[in-house]
Amino acid sequence: MKKILSTSRIIENRKITDDTFLMKFENRNPDKPLPGQFLNIKFKDHLDPFLRRPFAVFDFDRKTLSILYKVVGRTTSMLSQLQKNDLIEYLGFLGEPFDRDRTFNKLWVVAGGIGIGGLHLFIKNMKQNNDLELFIGFNTEEEADAFIRFLKPLHIRINAAVMDPKGKSKYFKGNIVKLLKKETKRCDTLFACGPELMLKSLYSDIIQKKRIPAYFSMDAIMACGIGSCMGCTIKIKEKGLTRFKRVCKEGPVFNADHIVWE
Ligand SMILES: Cc1cc2nc3c(=O)[nH]c(=O)nc-3n(C[C@H](O)[C@H](O)[C@H](O)COP(=O)(O)OP(=O)(O)OC[C@H]3O[C@@H](n4cnc5c(N)ncnc54)[C@H](O)[C@@H]3O)c2cc1C
Ligand code: FES
Repeated sequence: MKKILSTSRIIENRKITDDTFLMKFENRNPDKPLPGQFLNIKFKDHLDPFLRRPFAVFDFDRKTLSILYKVVGRTTSMLSQLQKNDLIEYLGFLGEPFDRDRTFNKLWVVAGGIGIGGLHLFIKNMKQNNDLELFIGFNTEEEADAFIRFLKPLHIRINAAVMDPKGKSKYFKGNIVKLLKKETKRCDTLFACGPELMLKSLYSDIIQKKRIPAYFSMDAIMACGIGSCMGCTIKIKEKGLTRFKRVCKEGPVFNADHIVWE
């Protein structure tokens, strides 16, 4: 698959919650993005911010690509100000995808809030032939309501947990790992994307204890995005050895049993 550096016109930059946006822009790639792959994005003709920022491909069709992003700092705040017809520059499609060629009896997909950005394409792909359930954690009830409305077109079972619900909430109270701990059923494989702390506790409290095969899409602060700078490495153990692997090149998806949690 060729990586393409492309200038692309924004089609839509829609607010989903107070700090989350869905950006649709022209798709200039002849290849299809695979679930779990990402784009490295910057502003056209701006030197500041200098570095591109990674965002998972949320969805695509022949003419458009989209990302779902949360405003956390300077670049994402500037992205949220962009309007229809403004230009961005992206490099993609990058990284190794989730394994999507197998079928599973029972598949759990676990997202920490905006982590759904890295899982949406995978869910769309896998829900056809698999019994799939989504577990997703939010900070507030408003956020959960907005995301669940937004994810309705997926037509899948969504189990939501909210850290800070108001009064008699319709959602589970607490974090997503606490909700999964209460699950009496089990799945045969789990896929997850979210903050490192969530993934770490998901691994030690669920995956390791119940011996569930799991694959995590890992986050890292990136520079080049194409494997040249070694700025995004994490420790991975394989065949008894611990090595540094690049989240942008060998990842972002890794077998959870191989990740060295520090
Ligand atoms: C493979 C991959 C896919 C991603 N996909 C998405 C996505 O679909 N949607 C989305 O909203 N975000 C995604 N991210 C995270 C996104 O790249 C960062 O939120 C973004 O780069 C922040 O840029 P900023 O300039 O706004 O923040 P900055 O001003 O650079 O930083 C603001 C704060 O966010 C922290 N931060 C910055 N970058 C990261 C990062 N990569 N991981 C964790 N913390 C970070 C900083 O330490 C700081 O505390 C992805 C990251 C990776 C590695
Ligand atoms: S960001 Fe440069 S090697 Fe990964």
